Amino acid sequence: MKVLVTGGLGFIGSHICLELLSNNFEVLVVDSLINSNSLVIDNINKIVSQNKLNVRKMRIYEADLRDECKLIDIFREHSIKESSIGAVIHCAGLKSVNDSVGSPIDYWANNVGGTIKLIKVMEEFGCNTIIFSSSATIYGVGDGGLINENATINPINPYGQTKAAVERFLKDVFYSGNQKWKIVNLRYFNPTGAHKSGLIGESPKGLANNIFPIISKVALKKKDKLKIFGNNWDTKDGTGVRDYIHVMDLAEGHILALKYLNNVKEEFLNINLGNGIGTSVLELIKTYQESNNVEIPFEFVGRRKGDFGHVVADNSKAISLLKWKPKRSIKDMCKDSWRWNLLYPNGYV
Ligand code: NAD
Ligand code: UD1
Repeated sequence: MKVLVTGGLGFIGSHICLELLSNNFEVLVVDSLINSNSLVIDNINKIVSQNKLNVRKMRIYEADLRDECKLIDIFREHSIKESSIGAVIHCAGLKSVNDSVGSPIDYWANNVGGTIKLIKVMEEFGCNTIIFSSSATIYGVGDGGLINENATINPINPYGQTKAAVERFLKDVFYSGNQKWKIVNLRYFNPTGAHKSGLIGESPKGLANNIFPIISKVALKKKDKLKIFGNNWDTKDGTGVRDYIHVMDLAEGHILALKYLNNVKEEFLNINLGNGIGTSVLELIKTYQESNNVEIPFEFVGRRKGDFGHVVADNSKAISLLKWKPKRSIKDMCKDSWRWNLLYPNGYV
């Protein structure tokens, strides 16, 4: 089956591409390179040859999703029946919460505008299967127990609003009744880690605000210390608790979602992808230090605006429906991230 991965050169997309190739899918990528680097292609190919995977070469199209003519060209090029695009994994989008507050127009235009163009072209070419990279950020909760898919949707920043809007749009498309759509919104919790080769990982172009890239900077001695946002949350040790999930477990979830969709007639699903295990900031620092034999100095500062104390997935739907099971521990995430950081301390620059 031929699968188009939008944003396939980014952090999560590149790991999904690799997993698709390993599972004998044919892979096409559309990426504008706005937050990625074409060096990732060489490294995916390196991993493929190191593992002696007998796969077809990926086809890469450097294009912005909003370029409808380009999208049409790509779908037309692959419109011969037996080899047409069977499904889209839609990872392309802007993802910085901070930037989204200052640039809501860019975020809405890219994340929502880009998806509308994509769905329009997919419909035109009779491609009706899509897996969308959604986010736990759309939930308006985060201080109690496990969050399931029926929790209130109430995003508090423009980035989250665009994710919720895309989910809403996809639901309308599904219920339009025009076509037999198969749609899965995968709501990621906190993706981290890297491929175990250390050849692909997270390489953001701008300033990273998430904890893993910041811990790496401290470990690499590019930053003095980690500022911990609050030590008075109602959590096990007072620091924020999150559900970190290894990017390879996440990638495997996409393959299973794809296989699931291949066996149903029509479907609209929202599914959490998280480990279901909460880890506090202090626990994360301890594991990172011990796993990698590095120092992570820290200090406590005030809470970050818009933060939550406890965000952990109820992942039972992914486990029962997709037969998915996260296999990698926090220790794996820390070790794999560090391996990538040692090989590429500045990312792909
Ligand atoms: P990323 O920035 O590394 O990857 C996104 C890719 O999309 C980049 O390669 C970028 O160049 C490309 N892109 C952006 N806009 C595009 C456009 N209009 N046309 C074509 N390509 C475009 O981000 P990521 O961490 O890999 O995230 C992938 C998806 O998962 C995003 O949609 C993000 O919102 C979502 N997500 C990420 C996280 C996370 O913590 N990383 C959590 C939840 C959801
Ligand atoms: C953040 C975003 C969320 C987005 C997600 C993935 C906010 C409020 N939330 O989530 O919308 O979907 O990233 O991109 O920005 N921490 C520190 N010091 C730091 C950085 C983080 O103590 O320098 C703590 C946070 O308070 C939190 C934990 O580490 O408890 C994880 O933070 P982060 O990696 O930013 O993820 P989220 O807060 O889950």
